[in-house]
Amino acid sequence: MLRLIFTILPLAALACTTATAQTRTAPNQQLASKELNERVDALLKKMTLDEKVGQLAQYSAGWATGPNATELRYDELAAKGQLGSMLNVVGAATTNHYQHIAMEKTRLHIPILFGLDVIHGHRTIFPAPLAVAASWDAAAAETVAHYGAVEARADGIAWVFSPMVDIARDPRWGRIIESNGEDAYLSSAMARAWVKGYQQGDLGKPDSAAVSVKHFAAYGAAIAGRDYNAVDMSENQLRQVYLEPYRAAVEAGAATVMSSFNSLNGVPATANPFLLTQILRKEWGFDGFVVSDWGAVAELKNHSIGDGPTVARKALLAGVDMDMEGNLYGTVIAQQVREGKIPESTVDEAVRRVLRVKFALGLFEHPFTTPGPEYAATPERRAAARRVAEETFVLLKNDAMEGAGTLLPLSAKTKKVALIGPMADNQREMLGAWAVTGDPKYVTTLKSALAARLGDRLLYARGCELLSGEDGALLQREHFNEPPSAEKPLGIPDDAKTIAEAVETAKQADVVVMALGESSSWMEGEASSRATLGFTGAQEQLLEAVVATGKPVVLVVLATRPLELKWAAAHVPAILEAWSPGIEAGPAVSNVLFGDVNPSGKLPASFPRAVGQEPLYYAQLPTGRPAKGDLSRMPQVGDERFMSRYMDEDNAALFPFGWGLSYTRFSYGQPTISRTDIPVKEVMATRAPLTTVGVDVKNTGSVTGTEVVQLYLRNTAASVEQPVRELKGFARITLTPGEQKHVEFPLGFDELNFYSAENKRTVEPTTYKIWVGGSSLAAAETALKVVE
Ligand code: BGC
Repeated sequence: MLRLIFTILPLAALACTTATAQTRTAPNQQLASKELNERVDALLKKMTLDEKVGQLAQYSAGWATGPNATELRYDELAAKGQLGSMLNVVGAATTNHYQHIAMEKTRLHIPILFGLDVIHGHRTIFPAPLAVAASWDAAAAETVAHYGAVEARADGIAWVFSPMVDIARDPRWGRIIESNGEDAYLSSAMARAWVKGYQQGDLGKPDSAAVSVKHFAAYGAAIAGRDYNAVDMSENQLRQVYLEPYRAAVEAGAATVMSSFNSLNGVPATANPFLLTQILRKEWGFDGFVVSDWGAVAELKNHSIGDGPTVARKALLAGVDMDMEGNLYGTVIAQQVREGKIPESTVDEAVRRVLRVKFALGLFEHPFTTPGPEYAATPERRAAARRVAEETFVLLKNDAMEGAGTLLPLSAKTKKVALIGPMADNQREMLGAWAVTGDPKYVTTLKSALAARLGDRLLYARGCELLSGEDGALLQREHFNEPPSAEKPLGIPDDAKTIAEAVETAKQADVVVMALGESSSWMEGEASSRATLGFTGAQEQLLEAVVATGKPVVLVVLATRPLELKWAAAHVPAILEAWSPGIEAGPAVSNVLFGDVNPSGKLPASFPRAVGQEPLYYAQLPTGRPAKGDLSRMPQVGDERFMSRYMDEDNAALFPFGWGLSYTRFSYGQPTISRTDIPVKEVMATRAPLTTVGVDVKNTGSVTGTEVVQLYLRNTAASVEQPVRELKGFARITLTPGEQKHVEFPLGFDELNFYSAENKRTVEPTTYKIWVGGSSLAAAETALKVVE
């Protein structure tokens, strides 16, 4: 038997209780360095007030990723030293153009910092972040981030607006695609990996990019899943769940943070001293700078907290150092300093923070970008994109077929395969949302990949568009880059006709692969909230019509959001969740369908049975009346009528957090624990692990497979009630057929603490129930007592 010991990195490296300014440590040593700060101060001394304020202004001069501020003359601003940063300006030629003005025409030669939404790759587009989280593989996130930084730097961009680490527990919110899903522990692990991949622990490397951790804070909890909406939650919930991934990213050295659009408990996040000064700077020791989200400083006027000058002042005093495309700092801050309404020292401190990052990035020494060859999707980059994509797919369902094994993997000998659906041959949609610099021409679709594998054994029908009616026609035009014109009238899709054609195609095949989903360019990402979560357009009818042929159907879902798959789960034998896979979509999906690669992804967010269950997540707080089937249900009697449940739907997810099948099977032994009783004082005194949960995991199937072993805890007697289960450890292990490995999870303060009623991290005498398994339904159980 192989013994494998996993050291799970502790969640945090700071003090146990809320740190004070005195105990503050600097997570990013480069930004805190004495030498760097001396350079910053020396420069600051030479700056006029207008030049200082200029460092705090950021404008978008390329395209817009939000409503534009006034049209400005950027060359002029740059020449006056009033343009500290730009976004959406891409490419060596354009960035160098502005940089030459800043470096050559201004008094102090302060370089411009160019930022961009590099979210899941820059030119080489990888799977969307939620998909990367489904790999439960920090190395995958690091790879995506690293390629993103390398390619961004080649385009003059030294600052990426990533990672987005908002906890997302409501898939109505379209921005769930940019998140790591619903769980604080998984999101924190991924947050650290994204930061590491972009910054490489050294901002000065020519291929490192400064990150912007966003959106601070709790943006993902927008009420009713509606984008930009208010957030209202307890401080306890905020700290224990929502703030954890941002904290992880800051502790990993994040150079900048982006404030969010939402208000939090009645105070807009962009003018929130509790978030931006108390927590971020005093408690976490953050030395980088805070940029507002797009226009968010100006939008404070809509939050009714004052007129332009007032909201700019409030934002700056709260801790927003840079105004993104708001056109307010640049126009109203200097005057208020002159009038004595804002202390100049506040401006100085904000400028210091911005300059620190510019110096750390080496922009003063290397302000320009050397023009390089045009981007090409090299075999090496394609291979990286494919490998990551293959790790992200989640096999949701895989039934055995009558008299045979499971439907997937498909046999190489299958005579005829029908590929059907609007996602089957759709280059644009494979890129996913937030692929601003991705070019669809580099995408290999599933149709191309299957054609290469099967030749004339592949049949194809598009079946329908992603949307019906005029919207469907417009979207199709967009996909093929054909704007509507008078000469070429819109061809409104004829769903009935195309579905009938698809049914005929299906009838000629032995197996049908259906590629359905959601338009990532239209329905996912920012400003893409949905009130329903089904397939759009006529896709559900298409699916039902094809299933009605009686042919075995494999459904490949290409949507980076938990969709409502209830009908499919009941009627389709095999379902593969493939998200938005990026430029290697086709080869990656094809490799998994035919078993060249064994799927190993696990859901980072619960899939609902019905949209009315949202927000749906496994780490629910307990109720006094848990319904049948709830994770927290104790043996008890009660009239089911009066339980916490829906009259018309189960409480449980259709596919729960952590879920994902494999082409092999894994069995779990009885978990053991090295120490069963630990005094509370001992736990409070150290960050070191104090006990270890061990479990044997065996591959009992016939092919090699990778399992994500997950550990969940429940604190059964805390002074503040705790979730029914919380993930506190995971490990990816690969096992050959018959192989067994012993996996160990260390437990200590980091895993056992919770936030007290006073919002301090603490541990109390209690019993922790502990489960280990392959999903949040894990059943193998042990326990740990923390004693007086
Ligand atoms: C988004 C941010 C993004 C910014 C710049 C905003 O609308 O919320 O996530 O980084 O635009 O494009």
